[in-house]
Amino acid sequence: MAVTESAEAKSKPKKAKYVGTKLSTPVTRGVDHLALVTDDMAETMKFYNDVMGMQLLHVRRVPYAPDRGQPPYDNLRHYFFGMGNDSLLAFFEYPKGLERSDRDLPGGMQHLAFHVPPDKLDEMVEHVKNQGIDVVGPVSLGGRFWSAYFYDNNGIRLELATSLAGKEFDNVESILQTEEEAREELETLFDNAEDVEHWLKLMPLVEEPLV
Ligand SMILES: [Fe+2]
Repeated sequence: MAVTESAEAKSKPKKAKYVGTKLSTPVTRGVDHLALVTDDMAETMKFYNDVMGMQLLHVRRVPYAPDRGQPPYDNLRHYFFGMGNDSLLAFFEYPKGLERSDRDLPGGMQHLAFHVPPDKLDEMVEHVKNQGIDVVGPVSLGGRFWSAYFYDNNGIRLELATSLAGKEFDNVESILQTEEEAREELETLFDNAEDVEHWLKLMPLVEEPLV
């Protein structure tokens, strides 16, 4: 049974006053877990095991904890899969019959992209297609970026992403830009040259385009 959530908890996030950072590298190490919502755990287990090759690692129930934004239902299933590189993909199983979420609204998750090494992309796309799933691509996103798109059993939009740069760059390294490339875009965001320079100074720019 649904637990009523306060209007305050559902309202827009409050604006924080940022005070800058002295950190030069993130303290965070990638994704610990993503927590998504399904209304059919058994089907989701089949999808993520059979299609995505992700192993089921942990199955549990969670109580409703009103003070920290937990799902507004008590005793929900919460199952975890390994998505590679020590990261976890988790699902809550909400009751059936709820309205679908809209990936194209602010605060929504438009899609979830998994990185695939370049030499595995075609094989993975073939594998997904062989499960009877419609796949768009791989399509070129410009330059070295190639991606294939499809939907999971919950209607969540998934992407297989790779960089065909001729060698396996690290994911971060593969998206670095020259100052010129970054400046051209940032000048469309800020009227103020100071803001553009501020952000350019914080970016790890490269001398030459990677490809
Ligand atoms: Fe993407």
